[in-house]
Amino acid sequence: MKHLLSTHDLSIDNIVAILDTADHMTEINARPVAKVPALRGRTVASVFFEDSTRTRLSFESAAKRLSADTMTFSAASSSVNKGESLRDTIETLSAMGVDAFVVRHKSSGVPAAITQWTGASVINAGDGWHQHPTQALLDTYTITRSFGLKDSLQGRSIAIVGDIKHSRVARSDIDVFTRLGAEVILVAPPTLLPHNIATWGVKTASSIDEVVGKVDVLYMLRMQFERMDSGVIPGLAEYSSRFALTPARARLLSPHALVMHPGPMNRGIEMVVDPSDLPGSRILQQVANGVSVRMAVLFTILGGGATATLQQGVDA
Ligand code: NCD
Repeated sequence: MKHLLSTHDLSIDNIVAILDTADHMTEINARPVAKVPALRGRTVASVFFEDSTRTRLSFESAAKRLSADTMTFSAASSSVNKGESLRDTIETLSAMGVDAFVVRHKSSGVPAAITQWTGASVINAGDGWHQHPTQALLDTYTITRSFGLKDSLQGRSIAIVGDIKHSRVARSDIDVFTRLGAEVILVAPPTLLPHNIATWGVKTASSIDEVVGKVDVLYMLRMQFERMDSGVIPGLAEYSSRFALTPARARLLSPHALVMHPGPMNRGIEMVVDPSDLPGSRILQQVANGVSVRMAVLFTILGGGATATLQQGVDA
């Protein structure tokens, strides 16, 4: 695997192999010294043209725990402000010796375009409304491992609640969850559902109350105001009345049900309940698992991917 641009690039076998590798990384992360030499001498550049807290730091932690060198590019403080083009920026960084670019951009397709301008690997860390493949992998890792599963979500129901239309997380999650056999229910106002939803192989519901007591996973999304036109919902109070997770609704969850959110959360909009009051919350576990899964992705792309190599790299 040279690049990771979309979940659609991954076969089920690829997904299962990355999650298995992530188990090994989780074991490394639990050690007193969570660092192995597997990617020594490799350079990972994070190139973010959009705001990020967890994804950028998660990739950088992942690279460092595998002993890769890291470079951080932040558009806000770069020569982009002097008119430098995206292509010149990538070619400049490439000339310094980069093995993998981790790219976030507000426009769909930018990570794919970058593969034309560099010989390095490119990992999509979120492009517009399109894809966020490592989020889908870490979410799948979190759900399977929470339920003691390995390679299937057969028989599990997952409701994804909120602004599906503008969500690259939803598009990526839906692809992986449905291919692993889960039943996916999208819960959103019609204006926050994509037009071609009928082709996605998912169910829909028009209020969180229809699903909250029935599902194995309640996956909450942020209202992505920065990506939407005005007027798609009547108002935030009306939105919250049908789509927010409140303490009263949380009491209706099945005892085994998980509550997830990719972050950042908007407290008081979609999350009216404090997640620390929810025994089923996996929101911080998602963040912790994100590091393991991104270590697995970096290792798969830059380290050769074979278990034997992993053992050598990890145990050296
Ligand atoms: C998401 C993103 O950037 O797509 N956040 C993340 O990467 N954890 C979701 C969001 O912005 O709401």
